[in-house]
Amino acid sequence: MTTALTINKLTASVGAKVVGLDPAHLGSDTALGDALLEALERNGVLVLPELHLDPVAQVEFCRRLGGIDHSSDGHHPVAGIYPVTLDKSKNSSAAYLRATFDWHIDGCTPTGDEYPQKATVLSAKHVAEHGGETEFASSYAAYDDLTDDEKIRFGALRVVHSLEASQRRITPDPTPEQLARWRARPTHEHPLVWTHRSGRKSLVLGASADHIVGLDLDEGRAVLQDLLDRATTPDKVYRHTWSVGDTVIWDNRGVLHRAAPYAEDSPREMLRTTVLGDEPIQ
Ligand code: OGA
Ligand code: MN
Repeated sequence: MTTALTINKLTASVGAKVVGLDPAHLGSDTALGDALLEALERNGVLVLPELHLDPVAQVEFCRRLGGIDHSSDGHHPVAGIYPVTLDKSKNSSAAYLRATFDWHIDGCTPTGDEYPQKATVLSAKHVAEHGGETEFASSYAAYDDLTDDEKIRFGALRVVHSLEASQRRITPDPTPEQLARWRARPTHEHPLVWTHRSGRKSLVLGASADHIVGLDLDEGRAVLQDLLDRATTPDKVYRHTWSVGDTVIWDNRGVLHRAAPYAEDSPREMLRTTVLGDEPIQ
């Protein structure tokens, strides 16, 4: 059992590289899982370079972090694995994934009342020739960087999130069928400022955020865009350039993320496992 982790920060506000991990221990070492969760809370993103976890080992490992999300099963032979790729032959829901090119937080528009995922794990099976890096910015830092006045003002605001908002950004002229499918997903109202059980606060922003309740539509959207722009200036972003076999974990409750665009016919394929959340946005 080795739980002494070597963790090297990648930027001032988000991301750390974990070195010296033995992949053979990941699936069975509970203390290691706890240590990684703690490091994740502190750093937002953990990079585990070139671990070459196989899909079954990845799911085993994720069990050390919490319950596994099986709601997207069926696209890969291993339960708990979802292939992130634009290749429709590998993932029949690939059409939705271009929305990952915009900054977002996963799980803000669930089909029911599920909580946002706690953590997401991606491992690189095939990488893009051009683009396809994944970028991260801390949504805790986004809150911490507000002025005192803004903290008070924004603390009272609520935001409506929808699948339509995130899909419209990449498909601005949908067919009536597309629109009907997007609108079949319920919208969700969340506070702009999330007060976590830990006491930390973060901003709930990103592609799914459609409008601010009670504000003029354009005015509210301008506020959301300004906050997102400020949260994601290059100095606040960790950009991961993938090598095959890399594994990256992010704290979905405390970071925004996006994929840098890559070609529709790119071989890029990430194997994703999601750890269920146990905390509502409140
Ligand atoms: C995701 C996601 C980004 C990427 O899997 O939720 O946003 O770089 N992925 O593929
Ligand atoms: Mn995502």
